[in-house]
Amino acid sequence: MKKANVAVLVSGGGTNLQAIIDGEKNGIIKSGKVRLVVSNNPDAYALERAKANRIKRTVITKKQFKGAEGFEKELIRVLKDNKIDLIVLAGFMTILSKRFTDTFSRRIINVHPSLIPSFCGEGFYGLKVHEEALKKGVKVTGATVHFVNEIPDGGEIIFQKAVKVQEGDTPEKLQKRVMKQAEWKILPQAVEKISCEIINNK
Ligand code: GAR
Repeated sequence: MKKANVAVLVSGGGTNLQAIIDGEKNGIIKSGKVRLVVSNNPDAYALERAKANRIKRTVITKKQFKGAEGFEKELIRVLKDNKIDLIVLAGFMTILSKRFTDTFSRRIINVHPSLIPSFCGEGFYGLKVHEEALKKGVKVTGATVHFVNEIPDGGEIIFQKAVKVQEGDTPEKLQKRVMKQAEWKILPQAVEKISCEIINNK
């Protein structure tokens, strides 16, 4: 069966990358295959995960390419050279320009650790999202997988899953629960859904 070529873009620990790799192994992802991992951080542990699974990996930094424009040009070149059909932002801590998102319209998805439209947009990433959710006193939070367009966290929603906030939660505890109960579930499911749509429309 033909599979969509998937690239996963990372910056840090890569637990969401791991969830996608595991999703391929346990059959949740049948229509896509991770062909490439790109990190904008040479020290990202996600690169070790890619290596352990013999997935092609590359590091592209803004420093190397003297700013955002050169960085994105190189990123586009690498993604096109590898014939990537679907780009998954999995803890990728860089905002992409309209030029980039238009180049891959409806071919980029992102996982965000809140129920969009709460706690999202520029400045809301990683632990900060959970700090703000706790500060606000919400009783329910969660995760969202959405298409990426030029508006940070503004693209069409694909899947969401709610997670309860518990008494005594710290940002770290809440982050872990949101990952485990929501992100690591809905991200592989979304990769399968969109990969399946891509191969069927080809
Ligand atoms: C995840 O919680 C992801 O949702 C979040 O960063 C973490 C990365 O963890 N992404 C954002 O906040 C993007 N706005 P990981 O490297 O272990 O997958």
